[in-house]
Amino acid sequence: SLVHEWSGISSLETILTRQFKIQKVIIVPGNNDVEPSVKTLMGTEAANELERLANGKKTVAVTGGSTVSAIAESLTPSNKFSQLQFIAARGGIGEEMQLQANTIASVFASKTGGTYRTLYLPEYLSENAYSTMMQEPIVREMIDLYEQTDIVIHGIGSAEEMAVRRNSSPEDLQALQSFGAVGEAFGYYFDETGNAVHRIRTVGIQLEQVHKCPSILAVAGGTSKAKAILSYIKNPAEQTILITDLGAAEEMIQLL
Ligand code: G3H
Repeated sequence: SLVHEWSGISSLETILTRQFKIQKVIIVPGNNDVEPSVKTLMGTEAANELERLANGKKTVAVTGGSTVSAIAESLTPSNKFSQLQFIAARGGIGEEMQLQANTIASVFASKTGGTYRTLYLPEYLSENAYSTMMQEPIVREMIDLYEQTDIVIHGIGSAEEMAVRRNSSPEDLQALQSFGAVGEAFGYYFDETGNAVHRIRTVGIQLEQVHKCPSILAVAGGTSKAKAILSYIKNPAEQTILITDLGAAEEMIQLL
């Protein structure tokens, strides 16, 4: 079995990279579920990757969440970063302020010396409000930026946890269950076959836009997220770089 094939983290990275058919898997030691300091390790790896990818003027879309937020600790001003423009991957304000994409974009900009653009919209828009918003010039500008995004940095959450954290209605929770939603990233919910089964109706980067982005950094760890990561990575963009921890990686190997 796959379990006997690997020894050590680097072979595990190779196995998962091949299995997922993505650009790279980076695994940090530990398990985020039990050692929250593991987020800092993943954040350092993500910051290194960002530095490697950053040259010239680039638009970087970031999502919310505690994992992406932890990258900030490892960001320092650098010439390479100064031309980056950080934008919130979604306008939603459903989460705690510190964990919102808008906040994270502004923190990344102040840490690196780059610039940022925000978009503040309710997490859930009615159909009418959504189509009205889509005509607003400020929203159109953001959508143009999503179209030209060079790098996406995003977390992955377990569908149920994210739905609860975002105060989804009991009806929405039930709908997600009936769709078989397992994982969530940038407002999309994925089932275990990797299909996007639901999208939160707010202004944000589209799955197709993420897929055509030259670089994608997906950052998520902890044994409890293994299923969610697998659901997202099932239909991957091949340029994806997954930064995870040993807890999630070992669990994913078991589940494959
Ligand atoms: O989309 C997924 C979530 O943003 C992940 O949040 O990093 O706090 O677990 P987390």
